[in-house]
Amino acid sequence: MGIRIIGVGKNLPERVVTNDEMSQYIDTDNEWILERTGIAQRHVATTEKSIDMAAAAAEEALEGIDKETIDLVIVATVTPDDITPSMAAQVKMAAGLPNAVAFDINAACSGFVYGLWIAESLMKGSAAGGSVTNGMKRALVIGTERMTRITNWVDRGTCILFGDGAGAAVLENDPDERGILSTFIKNYDDVNGVMKCKANYINPPFWEDDLTPQPLYMRGRAVFKFAVNAIDEVTRGALEKIGLTLDDVDWFVPHQANGRIIHAAAQKLGQPLEKFQISIKESANVSSATVPMALYDLESSGKLKKGDIIAVMGFGGGLCAAGAIIEW
Ligand code: UT7
Repeated sequence: MGIRIIGVGKNLPERVVTNDEMSQYIDTDNEWILERTGIAQRHVATTEKSIDMAAAAAEEALEGIDKETIDLVIVATVTPDDITPSMAAQVKMAAGLPNAVAFDINAACSGFVYGLWIAESLMKGSAAGGSVTNGMKRALVIGTERMTRITNWVDRGTCILFGDGAGAAVLENDPDERGILSTFIKNYDDVNGVMKCKANYINPPFWEDDLTPQPLYMRGRAVFKFAVNAIDEVTRGALEKIGLTLDDVDWFVPHQANGRIIHAAAQKLGQPLEKFQISIKESANVSSATVPMALYDLESSGKLKKGDIIAVMGFGGGLCAAGAIIEW
């Protein structure tokens, strides 16, 4: 029995902002951004909310699939439009998924891979609760982000990195397939506070501490170092669990945070760059959405064959990291 991916979807806001356009707002230029990050442009939301992008990506991933068979919706996001109802509850309603249990998770840029891990665990175990009585047949896992909403637009070291978008995957519990072969999840204490963003709430009359809204703060160099090591650790960890080697992997689909991080990780893993899906040039860093978006890009490229071994890897704030090995 395996939990395999049977559908993928992606949605991006219409508005594209090139590096040249970024240089109208902050002191930067196309050459610096392209060379240091591999990013040429990002899609930014002008009217699209996180739920709109999530629902659109979900619809595409669900094409041809009976919606009544979806038992679970997990949305990974650090930029939900609302605290309640959750993005997952809203996707369930928008997509018309009458039997799904729905909730959100926050594992920063690793969120989608954490979502795969949770969905796989629930689908393989005897699921209980809600309307599910016989185990979960199908699940929808989504990463959706409006990163431009929490980005610090006067910090040229961070605002050039991020964009908006969503990616989705439908998982199926299939007795004849292997699907997700292993997962490796790890959290590291962020003792130096290298990546953080305050939640912004209303100001109660009794609260005495500072409540000034604060955008995303990142110590780029420290995160870069962490990222390369984390990708290495979760990939090797997930492979070791099932006795596979790096050479057995046909495709690596890492979180798209910075092109140079992907290059450095490829080098550390001793694997050719050609095996890595790199989508950051067109859509930048979209936190939890980049892994499913990159998976979608790989699938759409026509390069992926049935039986291929894929390693997906996430890392981000928290600090958290996650890897999964999937047979396509
Ligand atoms: O998904 C979430 C996880 N986040 C990440 O993975 C991000 C990881 N880190 C990075 O991607 C890189 O550290 C950055 C792209 C954020 C920054 O690149 P860097 O090579 O680490 O640059 P730096 O911060 O060390 O800055 C080098 C120089 C500085 O100038 P001085 O002090 O040497 O004169 C910066 O002020 O580059 C300057 N700089 C810029 N110059 C032009 C920083 N940002 C810019 C910019 N345009 N946008």
